Amino acid sequence: MNECLTCGLWKQLWCWLEELSSRLQDSNALKLILAVCVALLVLFNVYSGFAMANRCESRSEEEGAGDAGVRIPWNVPFNNQSPINIERNCLELSYFNSPLIWSNYNDVPLGIRLENNGHTLLLRAVFPGRTPSIDGGDLLGRFDFREISFRWSWSNSSGSEHTVDHRHSPLEMQCLHTDAFQDGCISSQGLLVISYLFQFSEDNPFFDVLVQHLVAVQQAGQAVEVPPFPLGYLMPAFYTNFYSYHGSLTEPPCHRGAEWWVHPASLAISERQLNEFRQLRNRRGARIERNARPVQPLQDRTVYLNRFRTGF
Ligand SMILES: *[C@@H]1O[C@H](CO)[C@@H](O)[C@H](O)[C@H]1NC(C)=O
Repeated sequence: MNECLTCGLWKQLWCWLEELSSRLQDSNALKLILAVCVALLVLFNVYSGFAMANRCESRSEEEGAGDAGVRIPWNVPFNNQSPINIERNCLELSYFNSPLIWSNYNDVPLGIRLENNGHTLLLRAVFPGRTPSIDGGDLLGRFDFREISFRWSWSNSSGSEHTVDHRHSPLEMQCLHTDAFQDGCISSQGLLVISYLFQFSEDNPFFDVLVQHLVAVQQAGQAVEVPPFPLGYLMPAFYTNFYSYHGSLTEPPCHRGAEWWVHPASLAISERQLNEFRQLRNRRGARIERNARPVQPLQDRTVYLNRFRTGF
């Protein structure tokens, strides 16, 4: 046996087999069977090694295709994806000294257009003067309002994309803003999404200006101009105590980075009002059952609770 320790792999195996078979009363047939087994094992290992290498190659080809602008599958986990679960026990406090400035949200737009795109409800508006915008706080510049989209589901216990302590809200309203100095181009930088979660309550009169028109966009592809109302009806301004984290858009192309602010106080919606959303249909003519992207891993990101520090 000592002699065997110094020889090459095959010799070593052979020595080991010899010793084993001599112990098993020197049966040559047994020796042969064991040798065949060992050879098969070795072949299997080599084969699976090759198979593994091939799989890695095809995966990197897919990633290459993604970089070339080919559609990225919805569920592929990239870094810093949205939505996330917000764990209220794991927030990091962050203080800011300059107040948030919400401008022009109480102006009445020239027109408001609702559209059912088969996946969600979109609200866009045209303004007579300046586009509503948010500034101040830790923001590096002014962010202009672009559009609002909504997430809901047939079930009371799901609907929102973001969860707080793993609980969904029945409705989430996401208000997309872009860096005011990028000429309206939505690039990988300069996106701010302000999100509001809802809870069941009485009718929310501010939302009736929207909800009463949903009957006109029940089919996918339908759009309607509605009597204009200030966006501030839907988007109450807040000045402190909001969550923030760095994420992405939740629809393709999901890799576009976005800063997310989530207003921690829930807005009110009644079941009657939510049911109007639940009537909207997709491109196949079926009612949209749910339209939230699943919660994505937080990985090494931090979720902040942002507080305005008064007195500075
Ligand atoms: C959903 O919530 C509403 C409002 O609380 C309630 O009236 C309704 O019965 C709930 N539906 C189900 C299926 O639980």
